[in-house]
Amino acid sequence: SQKIIIALDGFAACGKSTLAKSLAKKLNYIYVDTGAMYRAVTLYFLQEKISLEDEQAIAQALDNIRIDFRHRAGANHCFLNGEDVEEEIRKMHVSKWVSPVAAISAVRRFLVKQQQAMGRFKGLVMDGRDIGTVVFPEAELKLFMTASYEVRSQRRLAELQAKGLSASLAEVRENLMERDQIDSSREDSPLRKADDAITIDNSELSMNEQLDLALDLAQKAI
Ligand code: C5P
Repeated sequence: SQKIIIALDGFAACGKSTLAKSLAKKLNYIYVDTGAMYRAVTLYFLQEKISLEDEQAIAQALDNIRIDFRHRAGANHCFLNGEDVEEEIRKMHVSKWVSPVAAISAVRRFLVKQQQAMGRFKGLVMDGRDIGTVVFPEAELKLFMTASYEVRSQRRLAELQAKGLSASLAEVRENLMERDQIDSSREDSPLRKADDAITIDNSELSMNEQLDLALDLAQKAI
């Protein structure tokens, strides 16, 4: 059967990556976590102390950044210049800086180009903020995910704790709200639902219910 592109956008910590991963597995598609790419760039900027005001330093830094994904112990890990940064990029200090970094047009141009190249052969599920609007406006299926802040902050805190990373519920909640605010109001590629995207509010849906719903929509789009 024909392969399609599935674009999965939405607010922070709505369960996009969990759904995208299981959807990709079921369909035998590639899964691409674009948030990890923005996080990896942010980590590099933090490590190299790049000022977000310094356009020249940013351009130079981007020239030195290679991001790729590799399978490690059954999971998809993000690599920055050959180093496994999967754990580091999920930490709070990266979460706090990623939205300001993602608002920089040079950063977006750099990553969007790579994301579009990954979609050349279709057969992929990509999650992010601007996949249905900017990266693949022609995607055959677009989903837009949302959930209540209560549900989202609880889930994200549990995720961090499961990884042995420390954070408080208030801190997590505040970070989600702040990122959504910056992501939705930036000038370049703001987070918004594409006109032809289907909204999934998963506050009250189990993993399996979401997957069944998405699979059903995918079958209809293929
Ligand atoms: O998906 P995740 O929450 O890990 O994304 C981290 C941040 O990366 C988002 O809050 C947003 O600022 C940025 N991002 C983006 N565009 C994407 C994916 C992520 O601006 N396509």
